[in-house]
Amino acid sequence: MEKKICVITGGGSGMGLATARLMGKTHYVIICGRTVGKLQDAIKNLQKEGIECEAFPCDVGKLSSVQKLAAHASELGEVQAVIHAAGMSPHMGEAEDIMQTNAIGTIYMNTEFAKVMGEGGCILDVSSMSAYLTPAIVMPRKLYKYALEDVELFRTKINKRLRIFPKSVRPGVAYGVSKDFAIWYSKQSALMYGDKGIRVVCVSPGNFETPMGKLEEDEADKFTSHAAIKRLGKPEEIAYLFSAIVDERNGYLTGLDIICDGGVVASGVSAMTR
Ligand SMILES: NC(=O)c1ccc[n+]([C@@H]2O[C@H](COP(=O)([O-])OP(=O)(O)OC[C@H]3O[C@@H](n4cnc5c(N)ncnc54)[C@H](OP(=O)(O)O)[C@@H]3O)[C@@H](O)[C@H]2O)c1
Repeated sequence: MEKKICVITGGGSGMGLATARLMGKTHYVIICGRTVGKLQDAIKNLQKEGIECEAFPCDVGKLSSVQKLAAHASELGEVQAVIHAAGMSPHMGEAEDIMQTNAIGTIYMNTEFAKVMGEGGCILDVSSMSAYLTPAIVMPRKLYKYALEDVELFRTKINKRLRIFPKSVRPGVAYGVSKDFAIWYSKQSALMYGDKGIRVVCVSPGNFETPMGKLEEDEADKFTSHAAIKRLGKPEEIAYLFSAIVDERNGYLTGLDIICDGGVVASGVSAMTR
């Protein structure tokens, strides 16, 4: 493969698909997700636009699935960019599933791709402004270190902590915690893989016009009224940010989280604001 490879999880819809359109101008794109039909539709549309791409079904919450993806991508060519946009929101599943996809999935993606990437590579993890809006007291940050030592132990401890909360609020808490963890883990990854020449950057989006954004519409209204820009973000706006971050010309950008939320977090609003 002459072109460098860009892997996009959650590439069948929303932010991931919008990013595939931009990354496809310079890279061979592999889009991933769990729903084969969704991926196939996306590939058809991308190919009509002249983008060289393929679909690879993958569940980021399953280690063997991520290992197959990393092996396949690296057999094709040099994996320069990984845009890990797959995620589950509170309306998409139970607390443990949300934790498995958003938190454990980030561990699997960063760990497995760091093994096959090298100098000039960039992994972009996607968090959420929820990590900033959820009260810090809820975050079990003392448990995060277990993720570096023993993923199974981390999973057990964090899920046990989630069960303290009433069932009705658990998915929301799991989302905020999983995204707070993703920021922390992304920064740890930047430190772990810097010597290999791999950058790791996190982005925390606000409310965007995507299938997930639609499910969270009622909550979004509350926050956009406080924002500097009083509308939802457009998928192509965040796609532009993602593609700029992974660009090799951004070689000194690593180990940070970039909030792209139209100014919601800056307003000081919180999940507790009525
Ligand atoms: N939209 C917003 O307002 C908003 C706000 C803050 C943060 N975010 C974050 O931004 C990222 C992109 O979301 P989006 O708005 O573009 O939503 P989206 O259109 O729903 O995209 C999410 C994608 O992730 C895939 N996915 C979910 N679980 C997966 C798993 N276990 N393994 C592999 N793929 C999985 C989904 O496909 P399958 O179901 O087919 O697997 C879907 O295509 C997410 O991480 C989300 O948490 C979004």
